[in-house]
Amino acid sequence: MNRLNTLVIGGGMITKQVILPVLAQEKRKGKISSITVASRRKETIQQLKDIFPQENLKGYPEKNDEQPDAWKIALKNLEKPGLVIIATPDDLHAEMCLEAIEYGFDVIVQKPLCLKTEDAKQILNSSREKGCYVFTDLHKRHDLALRALQYKYTRGEMGEVLCCHAWHEQRRDIPLKYFKNWCERSSPLEYLGTHYIDMFYFVTGLKPEKVIAKGQKKLLKSLGYDAFDACQAFINWENGAVEYLQTSWILPEENPCLSNQGFQMTCTQGEFRADNANRNSNFSTTKNGYELFNPYFFKPYIDWDNPEIDMYLGYGADSIIQAIDDCIRILNETSGLKEKQALEKRKQLLSEFEKTRPLPNQAIISVSVIEAGKMSMIKDGKPVIIDDDFFLHYE
Ligand SMILES: NC(=O)c1ccc[n+]([C@@H]2O[C@H](COP(=O)([O-])OP(=O)(O)OC[C@H]3O[C@@H](n4cnc5c(N)ncnc54)[C@H](O)[C@@H]3O)[C@@H](O)[C@H]2O)c1
Repeated sequence: MNRLNTLVIGGGMITKQVILPVLAQEKRKGKISSITVASRRKETIQQLKDIFPQENLKGYPEKNDEQPDAWKIALKNLEKPGLVIIATPDDLHAEMCLEAIEYGFDVIVQKPLCLKTEDAKQILNSSREKGCYVFTDLHKRHDLALRALQYKYTRGEMGEVLCCHAWHEQRRDIPLKYFKNWCERSSPLEYLGTHYIDMFYFVTGLKPEKVIAKGQKKLLKSLGYDAFDACQAFINWENGAVEYLQTSWILPEENPCLSNQGFQMTCTQGEFRADNANRNSNFSTTKNGYELFNPYFFKPYIDWDNPEIDMYLGYGADSIIQAIDDCIRILNETSGLKEKQALEKRKQLLSEFEKTRPLPNQAIISVSVIEAGKMSMIKDGKPVIIDDDFFLHYE
């Protein structure tokens, strides 16, 4: 089997908690030959090496001072076949993704693909031209509790969508502890809202036409951060359906799970309602207190074959694994071909994947809504139109 050299850019929360455990697991299965991490500081790399001692991690920067461009050296040194995984603050995704494509690498981008529709268009065009696979990790598509709705909707059991209510709210430690360096450059709508905007599109295949959004700055502002506490978006989709999306990241630290979240949809022939936080399997321990436990996202279990090892399962892993498997399939189907034929084959496979995967042609949908929402929020709810070419303008 062909194996991938992987480069993870960004050594923060999602890299530590999800990406590296998944890559380590896939490496044991023989899909990955090497794992490199590029972050801003050498100490981040050292911490990750200490957490994952078995993985022989390579890392950049190699020197001690802060180096925000170390990822460029890492990219230059990445050997083919290479897969780049971008896990940096949302506003840095576009530049990193475009540069990875320039080198001809396949890419997984943590959601959102980027923050600007113009950047998403550029990523779409250059990935198609270069035959690069660019997958946005929108893992809720792999949550069976939500995927079931896509099934019933697509098979016609729900009729036509009329309206939807989605909510996604996180504890205040996200902006105050994890993202304190970049919470002002993002918002609950962009950071969290992306998921349930994409979910509406994933289920219905409809395009967004207009967004009205409001946001409040109170608690974080009082603590010295010029960032939104909460955002509400009213999204009009092309058949006239409306999605009301409520996001915030200032829940108390005592909230029994990191995210309160759920999705409700009313259709002409039925209704769907899911609480995606409370899965009715909860713990109470002296270590963590009362926990609403979601076994389906990404949790360790005892490995069937080696009980000493933690095996990570859940939709957080399945999404990344889908992209890794797609990249290996591309490699298998292009190896041995001449350059021109390999590019043709890549393009043919990409056009197949574009129908069902969050490649840039699909990821641009949520990017357009979060950008329109941000434009609307900063004008206190002024409506923003998303036209057919994803050109955004005030109504
Ligand atoms: N799929 C998911 O479940 C999920 C969950 C959380 C976050 N995310 C997304 O993943 C991305 C990262 O989130 P996080 O929670 O890990 O954030 P984080 O703030 O914990 O980590 C970001 C990392 O990027 C690094 N970084 C910043 N500038 C850099 C640069 N110039 N070069 C290299 N590294 C740089 C930081 O040092 C840090 O290590 C964001 O886009 C976020 O929206 C996805």
